[in-house]
Amino acid sequence: MKARQIRDRVEWVGAVDWNRRLFDALIPLPDGTSYNAYLVRGSERTVLIDTVDPAMENVLAGHLADVDRVDYVVSNHTEQDHSGSIPFVLNKYKNAVVLCTKKARELLTDHLDIQPDRIRTVEDGETVSLGDKTLQFVHTPWVHWPETMVTYLPEDRILFSCDFLGSHLATPELYAGNDPLVMEAAKRYYAEIMMPFRPSVRKNLAKVRELTFDIVAPSHGPIYDHPENILSAYADWSSDRVSNEVVMAYVSMHGSTEAMANHLLAALVERGVKVHKFELTTTDLGKLAMALVDAATVVVGTPILNGGAHPVALAAAHLVGVLHPKLKYGAVIGSYGWSTKGIEQIADAVAGLKLETLGTVLCKGRPRQETFVALENLADVIRDKHASL
Ligand code: FEO
Repeated sequence: MKARQIRDRVEWVGAVDWNRRLFDALIPLPDGTSYNAYLVRGSERTVLIDTVDPAMENVLAGHLADVDRVDYVVSNHTEQDHSGSIPFVLNKYKNAVVLCTKKARELLTDHLDIQPDRIRTVEDGETVSLGDKTLQFVHTPWVHWPETMVTYLPEDRILFSCDFLGSHLATPELYAGNDPLVMEAAKRYYAEIMMPFRPSVRKNLAKVRELTFDIVAPSHGPIYDHPENILSAYADWSSDRVSNEVVMAYVSMHGSTEAMANHLLAALVERGVKVHKFELTTTDLGKLAMALVDAATVVVGTPILNGGAHPVALAAAHLVGVLHPKLKYGAVIGSYGWSTKGIEQIADAVAGLKLETLGTVLCKGRPRQETFVALENLADVIRDKHASL
């Protein structure tokens, strides 16, 4: 895809990665992603805002083939999908200097061996003139690394937000418009990458809202030409509001835990509680993460295997703990053969969330009437707790 004009002398010079299916060796990318870089040519100086994943450096090289000068490279974020092609750019433009936060200077040196004399740090609020255009840097730490910042171009009313507010979505469309698919991709992205840093998201959202912009140009996914869509979505996702929803994540070896999950699901639905059910050996973990953005309660279903919770259920519980959603309540259900030893591993995995435990329903062998009664009672408790949300 060729470079694409956004404003007068402001171009998208990124790469669309249609085929990538995994990020950080963890996060599924069902719709690919993009690495957005932007070229801004002022009357006196030219700046490249972020670069692309080194695997697609050749695409960036193509965009820059006829560009004679780059004076600055802004590194809003040091993760290599944005910074990884900076060495190429610095090699091509011998006088170019990287602009980044102090923390980013350390990380750029650590990860990419960029020499300190090619880096100039910028303070929060500092401006750099390109002649008739100006860059203003706004430090936004912990969305989602400690060094993250955004760059504001006041003359064109554009906020270059890097990872913040982005979406993993490969598309030929430059702009998001009001496409609900973009918002779904953005929610998945938020859940997987930003949700663990919810307090920082809220703080930095308020900070960028002080700026006046018509466009948010992130480093992944389409450009937001109706920025209020993504800003209000982030305000909601990062708020303390939880919904009358349960995330049920379970694995079953011979059908007993699954029968329990199905019974609890039906009981919750009868009581007006929305349930997102995930069978963990086949589920898309991104969808599980998305469901966690709004849910009030998580129920983990696990059999006991070799003296502990099933490793697949335990891994999912650990992921829930790491994603740090705003859940309030938790419960465990499952079947065992001769010992319940190890069931507490699930609670330990989410201990950092400080959930109120609403119950543990276990059955020896296949579930019978008393198990179903216990599950109905658990559904009552969840309904009652959710009534006071
Ligand atoms: Fe898109 Fe944190 O890298």
